[in-house]
Amino acid sequence: DWNSGNVIAEQVALIQAQVGTGKVICGLSGGVDSAVAAALVHKAIGDQLVCVFVDHGLLREDERRQVEEDYVKATGIRLVTVDVREQFINALAGVSDPETKRKIIGREFIRTFEQAQAELIKESAEIDGDPIRFLVQGTLYPDVVESGGGSGTANIKSHHNVGGLPEDLQFELVEPLRALFKDEVRAIGAELGLPAEIVQRQPFPGPGLGIRIVGEVTQARLDLLRQADAIVRAELTAAGLDREIWQCPVVLLADVRSVGVQGDGRTYGHPIVLRPVSSEDAMTADWTRLPYDLLAKISNRITNEVDGVNRVVLDVTSKPPGTIEWE
Ligand code: XMP
Repeated sequence: DWNSGNVIAEQVALIQAQVGTGKVICGLSGGVDSAVAAALVHKAIGDQLVCVFVDHGLLREDERRQVEEDYVKATGIRLVTVDVREQFINALAGVSDPETKRKIIGREFIRTFEQAQAELIKESAEIDGDPIRFLVQGTLYPDVVESGGGSGTANIKSHHNVGGLPEDLQFELVEPLRALFKDEVRAIGAELGLPAEIVQRQPFPGPGLGIRIVGEVTQARLDLLRQADAIVRAELTAAGLDREIWQCPVVLLADVRSVGVQGDGRTYGHPIVLRPVSSEDAMTADWTRLPYDLLAKISNRITNEVDGVNRVVLDVTSKPPGTIEWE
């Protein structure tokens, strides 16, 4: 009989037993998983936890501000932001293969934490010189299963927070959400008093916009995709569809170009794919039948406002056979 209060009490005790008086670091991604995992750990051990927000440049518009201002205000959690946008762009240069991208992003992510840990120890007297030995991850049950760590299924994709960890990881993992599905995590977040804006946020993959560019990740492509993504989100919210849609990946087909006509002339631009899906737990999904007028509005706005895009297409594939993300 599932009850969020019981799960919280159980996890708080488990976290306390695992870490004792140890120092703990947690990466906030901006999403609900890491936000709830951190709040749970904060409840268990208070200021033994310090959170790190990595701005790797693969974020959505306004995401950094929401974490630095809104989440910190709501929780009182100690937060450090690390700006490694250049490091990530350099590490991803020339790479188009999806699994390679995921592995690189996962590796750089962990390296960034190790660096942050070293700096925190050096800088902060509050830490008493104790090394940070534990790393909190907001890994959910579906992540575990899909990375082959659960019931023996094949490795479908290496999620950055499961399969993509480097061999020489210096932290012991704390994963309080490892047995839970998304709706359970939201219930726990609400029970912990997190604002609805955070608890109800749609999922966004750890590797971010980096796995929504089919092709090499470049600064210009990220800027373009970020702009298209912001338009889609704004229009879905304005239409009141946030709760109905599980998530809507917006994908840039950077290696594909097609002929168009815009203004006075011929263009040779890139397509943007809309991938609205309905789902209970991301294990399976169906494509969401969005109203045609809304699709028309989104299409018009993207092709008018986003330079370099001359076509918007709709993904009408369920999962399976398609995954939700394109990479
Ligand atoms: P797929 O594409 O496998 O996605 O159908 C299932 C759900 O997981 C999200 N996703 C990720 N989440 N790290 C995450 O934290 C990842 O590497 C990752 N890859 C996919 C995806 O957005 C969807 O909600």
